[in-house]
Amino acid sequence: MTNLFFNPVKVFSGRGCVGEYPWKSHGKKCMIVCGSHSARLCGALDDVRDALTAQNIKFIIFDRVEQNPTVETCKEAGDIAREDKVDFIIGIGGGSPLDAAKAAAYFAPNPHLTVETLYDGECKSDPLPVIAIPTTAGTGSEVTQYSVLTCRRIENKKTLKTPKIFPVAALLDAEYTVTLPQSITNATAVDALCHAVEGYLSKGANPVSDALAEKAMFYVGRSLRSLIEGRLDFALRERLLLGSMLAGMVISVTGTCFVHSFGYPFTYFEGLSHGEANACFLPDFAEYTARVAEDKVMRVYRLCGVKTHEEFRSLIERAVPCDWKFDRDAVMKYSRIGGGGGSVNKGLYEPTADDIYNMYKKYII
Ligand SMILES: [Fe+2]
Repeated sequence: MTNLFFNPVKVFSGRGCVGEYPWKSHGKKCMIVCGSHSARLCGALDDVRDALTAQNIKFIIFDRVEQNPTVETCKEAGDIAREDKVDFIIGIGGGSPLDAAKAAAYFAPNPHLTVETLYDGECKSDPLPVIAIPTTAGTGSEVTQYSVLTCRRIENKKTLKTPKIFPVAALLDAEYTVTLPQSITNATAVDALCHAVEGYLSKGANPVSDALAEKAMFYVGRSLRSLIEGRLDFALRERLLLGSMLAGMVISVTGTCFVHSFGYPFTYFEGLSHGEANACFLPDFAEYTARVAEDKVMRVYRLCGVKTHEEFRSLIERAVPCDWKFDRDAVMKYSRIGGGGGSVNKGLYEPTADDIYNMYKKYII
């Protein structure tokens, strides 16, 4: 028996959906989890405050989520949520605040869990409900059971993965992505494209995830040229947000492959954004996978509106800078960490040690 698909997130979209959402159905008090700037800048935090006030719901705000949030930050947010007896959590932001909201909701009713035991400890009580409001079109975290956190102990990111942390609802209002600078729009779009492509070329792909991935690649991949040329209208923003959500559904089935594994050390040690780090390995992923699944890779290219490996590589490199250079010892360390990641062999093509070295070596100064 094969489980083709499970995704319990209620997804709503459209301008003003935050104001229309029945927040009361989740309780009388909530905690808003966000970063220090973007949720305010884009207007989402104000809209959520107004909607909660209109429905007589008390709220507290935890706005200290950093980029690539640590397990420690999430534990702290979870402790506050428990002490303040909130009924549910609203995550507003890109992947970092949404992933932090899910982990905080997981910690909150489970005080026995610590920074050390988060991944292996027993989840005795169900997490608080999370409602996710994405303000970037990239992570798809609003529809996944993953919370990717920075783990100092292993000097890398580590994913908390459990169906218990699927958000209960996702509210997609592309208005919140309008204020994003072009560089972030491009990098997050490439992250979304990675989710769709990695899922599509994964051993875990099935007809349902493929259908979602094809639509996601069409929405996001076809938008990259417009992004490169700086043509960002509202309709494009909506397509990107929808594509990003669909790609999130894809990885909720398949997980990611080596693009994500290889990129994490570039983010952890060098500070590249998640999308920038993934862009460094996406064209290679497609090219290597073509050795064993050429037809499927060509379908990826067609959906993205390109025909060849070179065109695809050029499209990605023009969308996001990929010309990083780091010293040799550092890159060798990153290749060991990235090459040892859990999702390295999830793709249709399993890279050899030589392949891994060859993919990293172009980043040696
Ligand atoms: Fe990602």
